[in-house]
Formats: sequence, C-alpha cells, structure tokens
Amino acid sequence: MTDPKTFTPNLVTVDGPAASGKSSLSRTLAKSFGWKWVSTGAFYRALAYVARQRGVDLGDEEGLVRLAESSCWRVELDEERTRVYLQRSNQASEQDVTDRIYQESVGSDASRISQFQGVRRSLLEAQRQCAVGVQGLVAEGRDCGTVIFPQAPVKIYLTAASDSRAQRRAQEQDQDWAEIQRAQIQRDRQDSTRKAAPLQIPEGAEVIDSSNMSLEQVVQEAEKILRKKLLGL
Ligand code: DC
Repeated sequence: MTDPKTFTPNLVTVDGPAASGKSSLSRTLAKSFGWKWVSTGAFYRALAYVARQRGVDLGDEEGLVRLAESSCWRVELDEERTRVYLQRSNQASEQDVTDRIYQESVGSDASRISQFQGVRRSLLEAQRQCAVGVQGLVAEGRDCGTVIFPQAPVKIYLTAASDSRAQRRAQEQDQDWAEIQRAQIQRDRQDSTRKAAPLQIPEGAEVIDSSNMSLEQVVQEAEKILRKKLLGL
C-alpha cells in the first residue's frame, strides 16, 4: 500500500460530472505549476475497453477485477492526456489505445463498471501511486477528493449546466448534441447514485460553476484557490 507520508504536498483534486472541463483545467494547472496531472477516469475507461476487447462481460465483477490486476494494460501520465497502452496478444509489443478510450461510448462503459466496489478497490492503489515521487499532482475524476486523496490540501469541485457540458463534448467529438446530452445525463445519474464512492462534493472543496466561464477564467479562479490554500496568499 502507498504510504500516505510519501504523498506529494502539492496535491490538488478536481472532481465533477462528465464534461465539466476537469481535464482542461487539470492540464493547464499542471503546466503552469510544473506538476503532473492524471485523469483517474482513464483507469475505468481502459479497463472497460480491455474487457470488451478480451470478451469479459461488463457485469462480471470477478472477471473485471482479474483483468484490472493483470499486466496486459497500463496507464501513463502525459502532459496532454493520460495515455493507455495494451499488450498485444503476442506479448512482444504494446498498442496505444488512448484515442479510443476517450470516446463517449467507452465513457458509458466505464461508468457501468465503476459501480463495482471490487473494481474500484482494484484500481485504487495504481491511482494513488501517481502522487508518489512527483513535485505536484492534479488528480481529476469523481472520488479524488473523497476516496483516492482525502488528505489533499486543495479540493475543487467543477460543475457546469448540462447544456454547456453537452455542447462542449459535442464540439470536441463532432457528434450530435442531443445524443451526447442523453448519454451524459444517464452517466451522471449512475455516477452520483451508485453505492460505492458516488460523485459528491468533497468536504472542504471549493465549487466552481463553469457554465458561463471561459477556460481562462476557470483557471484564474482555480489558481486563486491554490495560492490561498497552498501558500496562504
Ligand atoms: O472522467 P471520465 O469521463 O473519464 O470518467 C469515466 C467514468 O469513469 C465515469 O463516468 C465514472 C468513472 N470514474 C469513477 O467512477 N471514478 C473516478 N475517479 C473517475 C471516473
């Protein structure tokens, strides 16, 4: 188990619903402070994607846990996006599946398997390891401030109106707005009502509603929070 004492002091969590702008904010903050960032959703997306590839049923918790603990896939931190690699079946090389895992359909599959306590437990240690040996980390997801890093000195909850979130994702992925919104509403409901680590505002978190804000404004607001909480400015 990761020793909490080895955790970086510059730990920032960003939680919130789908497409609220968590990745854009985390990436920008990490760049401006010279830290790392991780999308913890990439772990769930990767596992859901591998399960489909390997024919493991998305309702088979034990099979999913076995796959989570196997070494046939891995997550790598990157300045732009949290990347995912799969071992090819001949074991000799890896395939970069980063582009595939960020599709909305994989997001829905990820939300489905994230309901399982066993699955969450099996991914937790690898998610915590992202904070070890780095100067600073911005971790984004649904339970970063509540379960993965409850000791984080800075917690942000980023939200936005459903319309703005759907519009944002539809533009990014060049897809039908109404369909994306339907999938997001369903995913948010699933993520916030599940028994295991539901999406909620962590205690002590600062809430930012980005509905009518540009990315620049959200970043400015978050930087203000970081300065106040980390440096007392
Ligand atoms: O942040 P994302 O859209 O990449 O996440 C995909 C799904 O993974 C999300 O709908 C629920 C699950 N997830 C989770 O349960 N806990 C996290 N910390 C991150 C993601």
